[in-house]
Amino acid sequence: MRIVLLGTAAGGGFPQWNCWCPICRAARVEPHRAQARTQSSAAVSADGERWFLLNASPDVRQQLACLPGPLPTSVRHGPVEGLALTDAELDHTLGVVLLREGRVLHLYATEPVRAILEQDSRILPVTRAFADTRVTRLPVGDRTQLRYRDDTASGLSLEPFLVAADPPRFATGAETGHTTGFLVRDDATGGSCAFVPGCGALTKPLLESWESVDLLLFDGTFWSDDELINLGISDRSARAMDHLPVSGSDGSLRQLAGLAVPHKVYTHINNTNPMLLEDSSEREAVEQAGVTVGVDGMSFLV
Ligand code: MLT
Ligand code: MN
Ligand code: ZN
Repeated sequence: MRIVLLGTAAGGGFPQWNCWCPICRAARVEPHRAQARTQSSAAVSADGERWFLLNASPDVRQQLACLPGPLPTSVRHGPVEGLALTDAELDHTLGVVLLREGRVLHLYATEPVRAILEQDSRILPVTRAFADTRVTRLPVGDRTQLRYRDDTASGLSLEPFLVAADPPRFATGAETGHTTGFLVRDDATGGSCAFVPGCGALTKPLLESWESVDLLLFDGTFWSDDELINLGISDRSARAMDHLPVSGSDGSLRQLAGLAVPHKVYTHINNTNPMLLEDSSEREAVEQAGVTVGVDGMSFLV
């Protein structure tokens, strides 16, 4: 299975259009210190040609241009066979409506995620006006085969698992399963990847469930719990926004460091996070702990 990080920034991207925090400022004024990043999304493929998106970001148009594959011979062709959504947050789902020219869109989501897209963000009804939009319901804790557009099995399966989070702030319902991570497995190679772009807390069972994966893509939104409060741009802590901070004695870095997973990579990194700066002490601490700060275009074969 090939996994490509299409986007590694949190909502707003990096630098964020209206942000002049020290990190966004550095990215603009001293661009050698930090690479720009698009909003969080990944793509997985069993054959390196046909791709399934893990979340559909508002930057999907630009991101799809980076996917490898053969030169199409038909007038209309896109490399995306299907889209799997971990949750219904806007930065993970606005790309669905942006792919409306695709004519047939095959989505994979839990029932609570589907319901929020149907009733609250109305991304499904809007997309359906343009494209034949099908949703395969993903049961939490069970594997579902990903199928190609011609209905043959891809050999890849998805298993959603629950993560600590509140539903999106615009959601009216709060059914269990509104926010998940995915275990993606390749039947042929036995390779596996855990994709967890948002996670409010780490538990022992969650960490244990990742012990045998080859690649862990994990929530690197905030460096510290009071990051936005200290910058004066929000009164909410990282944890209140359902993002476990990287640093601290009970932060994610210390807990991930103890996990014997070959590749551990932060994604969904907010533009305020100092680990984005390549010369920062925070970046050094992450690398010292054996974790990688993800960047767009990174690719893994498992
Ligand atoms: C989040 O990651 O917490 C959400 O994407 C927030 C947002 O969409 O503003
Ligand atoms: Mn987000
Ligand atoms: Zn910023």
